[in-house]
Amino acid sequence: MSELCNEKHTYGNLINGRWAEYASGNVITITSPVDGSFIGEIQAVSKEEVDEVIRYSKEGLSLWACVPIFEKARILYKAAELLEERAEEIADILMMEIAKDRKSSVSEVKRTADFLRFTADAGKSLEGIAVSGENFPGGSRNKISYVRRVPLGTVLAISPFNYPINLSASKIAPALMGGNTVILKPATQGAISALHLVKALQDAGLPGGVLQTVTGKGSEIGDYIVTHENINFINFTGSTEVGRHLSKISCMTPLLLELGGKDAALVLEDADLTYAASNIVEGAFSYSGQRCTAVKRIITTDKVADQLVEMLKTRIEKLPVGDPRDNVVVTPLIDQKSADFAEFLIQDAIGKGAELIVGNKREGNLVYPTLLDKVTVDMEIAWKEPFSPILPVIRVKDMDEAVEIANRSEYGLQSSVFTKDINKAFRIAEKLEVGTVQINNKTERGPDHFPFLGVKASGMGTQGVKYSIEAMTRPKAITINLTE
Ligand code: NAP
Ligand code: G3P
Repeated sequence: MSELCNEKHTYGNLINGRWAEYASGNVITITSPVDGSFIGEIQAVSKEEVDEVIRYSKEGLSLWACVPIFEKARILYKAAELLEERAEEIADILMMEIAKDRKSSVSEVKRTADFLRFTADAGKSLEGIAVSGENFPGGSRNKISYVRRVPLGTVLAISPFNYPINLSASKIAPALMGGNTVILKPATQGAISALHLVKALQDAGLPGGVLQTVTGKGSEIGDYIVTHENINFINFTGSTEVGRHLSKISCMTPLLLELGGKDAALVLEDADLTYAASNIVEGAFSYSGQRCTAVKRIITTDKVADQLVEMLKTRIEKLPVGDPRDNVVVTPLIDQKSADFAEFLIQDAIGKGAELIVGNKREGNLVYPTLLDKVTVDMEIAWKEPFSPILPVIRVKDMDEAVEIANRSEYGLQSSVFTKDINKAFRIAEKLEVGTVQINNKTERGPDHFPFLGVKASGMGTQGVKYSIEAMTRPKAITINLTE
């Protein structure tokens, strides 16, 4: 057994540089959504343990401030190396813990190693500026302001189940390079995978108290951590429902929220339909649609809809479905509640007149990829985020109506525009109320140094390596007044 867990696969938390014993003794059993098999137990931290962790985090700030930035970067490089060495072992755990196919699981670990290295590089190029008073009318060159970026303090990183390693690292690494200390609260389903990321970072040489973890159900301990007076920044990725809740209770603590999405693919009449169909199927159904940036609706006109739907059908019918160990694309959803919701959305749409093209089949929590045509705005699937393999096609009279319907969504994460006419693409892109528009590509977050943001119910603030460092630091001005 490693320090991470005991012989019963009970995982501790990283508290002040050591994998903690379980003071409270309360544990949560983690089983696999693939086959119900036992994966391990995680600690349900107590409020007292949270207080202890936060105390160590504040102490860790002065320790971490003494570590020069090139040394901070070296630790991230080392952590990336350890992640890659452990990639197969960690990917196997990730695969079973969240039912992510093995190829995508390995890819998540390796993508995270790349993320750590890129963030280390970005952190090393952090610079300040000098501003002269003379630039402003009446100002004097005897007044000079030196401005550099300083850490915010203790960052609470809260990550979702679907990328427990990558979306934990996407918060931890930029926060650390910005000089902060970090407390990670991973999703309960995914926590064991996330703890393996933390182990690699700790083994790479982080001083005690710089990175710590608090595992436990968000619904039980979350509010206490979020509202703690010594949390200086909250970096959250998860559902809009929880994000809104955190925004309400966090009072003056600054937040970065990456929330839900209802990404629309607008397919114009001049689009390359063969390309669009393949690209959209990949974007809608990878990891069973459990991605915030999944394509979650197609909006197109009757002129091409029939042909496009036929092409989508052909590709969807070929999607491998089943056990993530067999490297399929569509695997069991994370829990029964998600599968029940998916079934509800499908039945609601069919009941209201949608045309079932393929799918509407379920085996336990495995929901088969489902394509619904002629979806109308009175159907729940037109607006709700399924977070499952369901793709609705909404038919409109023209692209003006397409943009109107796309923007009517409460969400504003990403949209795609498929067309051969770049002028049309830009004109439409400018009108779409989202964080990012993909022209002739599925909606997606990567590459990870790009700005990644949601507007409206999809979040606030911007992720992406240098944007995240900026979000978790602030300017500090020192003004020199020359007297002669
Ligand atoms: P979730 O249910 O909102 O949970 C996200 C995280 O918040 C988990 O760690 C959860 O802990 C924690 N949490 C829940 N209640 C809390 C509280 N009161 N205080 C503090 N933390 C709390 O989301 P999910 O099911 O993990 O992920 C799916 C959702 O996230 C989807 O809506 C998806 O669109 C969104 N998402 C967005 C992005 C993006 O980048 N925009 C990326 C991935 C996912 P527990 O696990 O213990 O409940
Ligand atoms: O839902 C996770 C979100 O970050 C999507 O990432 O890379 O699959 O588009 P990606």
